[in-house]
Amino acid sequence: MSYEKSYDLLRQILSKIDGKIALSFSYQAEDTVVLHFLSQCKIKSLEVFTLDTGKLFEECEKLHKETEKFFKISIKRYLPKKNDIEELEKELGDWGMRDSLKNRHLCCHIRKVEPLERALKNKSAWITGLRAAQSITRNELQILEYDEKFGIFKINPLAFWSEGDVFDYIKKYDLPINSLYSKGFKSIGCKPCTRAVNEGEDARAGRWWWENPEHKECGLHIKEK
Ligand code: ADX
Ligand code: SF4
Repeated sequence: MSYEKSYDLLRQILSKIDGKIALSFSYQAEDTVVLHFLSQCKIKSLEVFTLDTGKLFEECEKLHKETEKFFKISIKRYLPKKNDIEELEKELGDWGMRDSLKNRHLCCHIRKVEPLERALKNKSAWITGLRAAQSITRNELQILEYDEKFGIFKINPLAFWSEGDVFDYIKKYDLPINSLYSKGFKSIGCKPCTRAVNEGEDARAGRWWWENPEHKECGLHIKEK
């Protein structure tokens, strides 16, 4: 889908929504493209937020500052609850999230899903940088969806973009980008669960690489059946 069409569709959708809009920002190039779109739409009330899991790469912190400066915005951090983290660390130590799917889901729930529930409270719509081509778990993705789990309209303006479209756009507008991409990373999450990928490997091969592809979701983007 062309840049112009995606942008126009986003503007049309947003013109029908009252109230506060939220963009979830994960330090990946897709979110920066969407933020660039939003910086050109006249939105009355926008919150750009990140789920600061406490396990992010230093490179993300650097991009946090660069992005705030470039777009003249403030990115709000939602942190996990302190007590939950203490319990979790007692139970899993530093690497226990790799021992079982159950442990991994528990960690993702405490560090990402519960903070996301707080971030989406009192928001009218949630915008993401999701793309259908990213994974078999996302192949039914639409530009506009209703998220049953979080009870909110979800907008995925880049649903039908390819990875190449994203990086062409970043280059065209000279947007700030995570330096992890130049170190072989193609998808960026938490440090213990993300690695660089080799030539020819799938973009999400470096996320939770010890798991099967159909499990590679952390609970932010799971469809209620
Ligand atoms: S994940 O579920 O596997 O971690 P992914 O990294 O592909 O998701 O990112 C997809 C979208 O989810 C991003 O474009 C962003 O909107 C949102 N997202 C993921 N992780 C975070 C995060 N830590 N903070 C804010 N948004 C996030
Ligand atoms: Fe925990 Fe890894 Fe999930 Fe981050 S991605 S919340 S470190 S299990």
